Amino acid sequence: MNQKKIALIPGDGIGPEVVAEGVKVLKMIEEVDPQLSFSFTEFPWGCEYYVDTGKMMAEDGIDQLKEFDAIYLGAVGYPGVPDHISLWELLLEIREKFDQYVNLRPIKLLHPNLTPLKNKSEKEIDLLVIRENSEGEYAGAGDWLFKGKPEEVVLQTGVFSRKGTERIIRYAYEEARKQKKTLTSISKANALNYSMVFWDEVFTEVGKDYPDVQTYSYLVDAASLYFVLQPERFEIVVTSNLFGDILTDLGAAITGGLGLAAGANINPERTYPSMFEPIHGSAPDIAGKGLANPLAAIWSVSQMMDHFGEEEWGSAILSTIQEILSKKNALTPDLGGGATTEQLGNEFRDLLRHHAPLHDKVQRG
Ligand code: NAD
Ligand code: IPM
Ligand code: MN
Repeated sequence: MNQKKIALIPGDGIGPEVVAEGVKVLKMIEEVDPQLSFSFTEFPWGCEYYVDTGKMMAEDGIDQLKEFDAIYLGAVGYPGVPDHISLWELLLEIREKFDQYVNLRPIKLLHPNLTPLKNKSEKEIDLLVIRENSEGEYAGAGDWLFKGKPEEVVLQTGVFSRKGTERIIRYAYEEARKQKKTLTSISKANALNYSMVFWDEVFTEVGKDYPDVQTYSYLVDAASLYFVLQPERFEIVVTSNLFGDILTDLGAAITGGLGLAAGANINPERTYPSMFEPIHGSAPDIAGKGLANPLAAIWSVSQMMDHFGEEEWGSAILSTIQEILSKKNALTPDLGGGATTEQLGNEFRDLLRHHAPLHDKVQRG
């Protein structure tokens, strides 16, 4: 019996709406698979909690989360609370304290109609971005000197440690070797004359241990162009924290939008829980209206199943997303349909029953 304890942080805006659908998927899985059981503990943390308490999470929030097998997060941030406070005190705090230094963001076209790119189909848009998730431009190092004075100076320092850079690049090489795919490093050494020169050197150095992996290295500006014009160049991609953030929204744009883009924040050593989330934000413009697409949040449940070693369920969820994408009526407005978040969730679970892994332990509905 695989028993997993899941911490839920639905968060702000559309976060609770999409997490609710992901949780229903998990409950359906445990209902049909006698080998699996989940327990859920929900935490009320987020911007409303901040307005009530002056904190984004409980004082001992990190300690409380430590005992879980996974964290399932919706979105964080809402008008009224400055973004740098809400994100730094909750989402980024968890990524950092739990050393979730790998951020896995698949950019995979699941239906030909979903890309705005002419003449590109599923086989040309299928990459995995491995984003450094613990330091770099997100180190939070800097200063604000002479605030409000004419001589005001603001410093935001990128921090690229040998340990941090090597481990993410090595992780990416391992993944490329395992999947027998090419590996592309995306950096910017022409302008960032310390950090990215170092990044490129480490990429070459670590590569000596992986002569079997075919590599490419692009500057981030050119890589952005290729993402749009020749996405088939990319299979496994490794890049820094900020570049990975930006490139994966671009990746979402070429594969159906933010309503479909998922991400896993992984602590590979499993010393701490990993965290699964859609990569979109709280979408205040559509919150509370039943318009949010829950498929990104559901895709991140597929990543959670893979992380739990339940890859059959991981792929069953992905195939179900693929299938539902051809049923326009079942989709939310961002994908051209007229369904609500909940209606899409209901239809999804009906279909998933038929994709349930085929072994005798599973009773199919
Ligand atoms: P956003 O991702 O919330 O929204 C961008 C656009 O995409 C909006 O038009 C929105 O309606 C649309 N969209 C996003 N998710 C959707 C979904 N599931 N279905 C349909 N449409 C969807 O980005 P933003 O507006 O720049 O940020 C809003 C807030 O969220 C800010 O406070 C920001 O800091 C925060 N944010 C949080 C996360 C996170 O928690 N992981 C990620 C990004 C932004
Ligand atoms: C993401 C988000 C976060 C990031 C923000 C909300 C801090 O945009 O997960 O992509 O930049 O990592
Ligand atoms: Mn982002």
